[in-house]
Amino acid sequence: MCGIVGIIGGGPVAGQIVEALKRLEYRGYDSAGIATLEDGRLERRRAQGKLRNLAERLEKEPLAGHIGIGHTRWATHGRPTENNAHPHASDKLAVVHNGIIENFRELREELRGKGHVFATETDTEVVAHLVTEEMRQGKGPQDAVAAALPRLRGAFALAFVFDGYPDLLIGARQGAPLAVGHGEGEMYVGSDALALAPFTSEITYLDDGDWVVLTRDGAVFHDANGSIVKRTRLRSQASAFLVDKGNHRHFMAKEIHEQPEVVGRTLAHYLDMSAGAVRLPFELPFDPAKLSRITITACGTAYYAGLVAKYWFERFARLPVEIDVASEFRYRDAPMPEGGLMIVVSQSGETADTLASLRYAKENGQHTLSVVNVPTSTIARECDVVAPTLAGPEIGVASTKAFTCQLSVLACLAIAFGHARGALSREAEAKLVSDLIAVPGLLAEAIKSTAATEKLAHTLSKARDVLYLGRGVSYPLALEGALKLKEISYIHAEGYAAGELKHGPIALIDEAMPVIVIAPSDPVLEKTVSNMQEVSARGGRIILVSDNNAMHEAAVNVEAHLVMPDMAPDFAPIVYAAPIQLIAYYTAVVMGKDVDQPRNLAKSVTVE
Ligand code: F6R
Repeated sequence: MCGIVGIIGGGPVAGQIVEALKRLEYRGYDSAGIATLEDGRLERRRAQGKLRNLAERLEKEPLAGHIGIGHTRWATHGRPTENNAHPHASDKLAVVHNGIIENFRELREELRGKGHVFATETDTEVVAHLVTEEMRQGKGPQDAVAAALPRLRGAFALAFVFDGYPDLLIGARQGAPLAVGHGEGEMYVGSDALALAPFTSEITYLDDGDWVVLTRDGAVFHDANGSIVKRTRLRSQASAFLVDKGNHRHFMAKEIHEQPEVVGRTLAHYLDMSAGAVRLPFELPFDPAKLSRITITACGTAYYAGLVAKYWFERFARLPVEIDVASEFRYRDAPMPEGGLMIVVSQSGETADTLASLRYAKENGQHTLSVVNVPTSTIARECDVVAPTLAGPEIGVASTKAFTCQLSVLACLAIAFGHARGALSREAEAKLVSDLIAVPGLLAEAIKSTAATEKLAHTLSKARDVLYLGRGVSYPLALEGALKLKEISYIHAEGYAAGELKHGPIALIDEAMPVIVIAPSDPVLEKTVSNMQEVSARGGRIILVSDNNAMHEAAVNVEAHLVMPDMAPDFAPIVYAAPIQLIAYYTAVVMGKDVDQPRNLAKSVTVE
């Protein structure tokens, strides 16, 4: 949700800021802006829409300053207009902001009472005026920021530059991520290390409540009480990853095709292939045999990964699993059992609701484990143990490779817990592990369904609504399929447990609505086949995603069959995810949609 960057450079910084913003555009892309200091005076350029609009503006009206801040926005307060774009400024400073200032209304009223005039609909503008007010009372920039920060409620990250101060940049973090980059006579601040990767790999993450004063000589960190503190300098791996599309038209296509490799890499991290066993790459600070229950919470696609894992933990480890979306869980006041484990799943590791659920679980005495893709994220740093996914940076807003890597890690955890609890025999574990080892190869085969999917996309693109059905572990995949389609093609889609069809949604079936059935050859195939027959009897259009055996069993007329390889059914969701993603991808491409940056969305949801 919004990307922020700041640079104190050795020469003009606007170009570098745009480059960093490109790497942050996944966080929001409805407007962008830059402020630099030219001859000590603040100058701003802002533009509505994608970052390229700002880049074009800068070509016509360049900024020459050697210090500056930049922002790419995902609107929360106020429409995505140029006027609402960051940086927001006063005669004394400019500020960029990620997150939400919850008490902005009361602060705005107070400041209006002191004569401040507001020019935008944003919550951010109160920060500019609040610090300005402190400066008008005679404080220097640092003291003014220190006085203003405790008055702000909400989760946010901020970066400031000040008129007349060409060697000073201040950053602050409360609930939203912020990283400092250390260069040679240059200093940087950014929403993540990825943004700073072209400039430096020496990174320090701010702790929650920290603020930092940057000059060309370095960084001085302060905690929430204003005391000077030391924060560890790390070597970031971010620069090792090239953020480009390779030979693909979109990041999403690249990331779908990367899955055999990154799922293989992730599995290799957790499996002892020769012993046919799971070897967790970390010590568990609890005994899985003594767990009373698992609670899983996450948002969106990560939640669906958790929903698949519920079936696995229950089946392999005989552990009861409670699961809820994080935005509900955090406010439910849920009782948590003694000896319980909370698993949170998150690609970014920064999702506000997931983080709040993790904190709730900790306060309620749970062990905590996170499955995250960004090992330096807040969630990773706050939980007892981190189970990393090795998907590499995911840039496409629609999650693809992070999902299949999350599933891979969760499958390994379920097997490890099954082993530890004596619920899986050595042979059963070895069989599951050998099934998992086959997954990357099967994924590569599944991705070859591309040609059939492209053809199918032409008919799907004309649909108004699409229904996805699945049973057992394929049910969460039906939900994920519907989410993928709606978020990038804007076609209305619903996912349903196939058994629920006759309890309502069957009323929707007619010749116009495609029904995508996910039905691997598994123990519930027969039941799903009955549901397909019910659809067929009502003239419904079935698109079957399954192996040839299931197609044969189904014995119904289908409009299309996306042929999946034969495989052991437990891990079908990891392999069947590929055609589900490709259906959404090609449909959106055929419809000419902005696949990597769909409207209204952002990659990292650090606001509630
Ligand atoms: C959908 C998608 C979102 C995310 C959700 C959680 O394609 O990407 O639904 O899965 O916003 O994000 P993370 O995993 O970063 O917590």
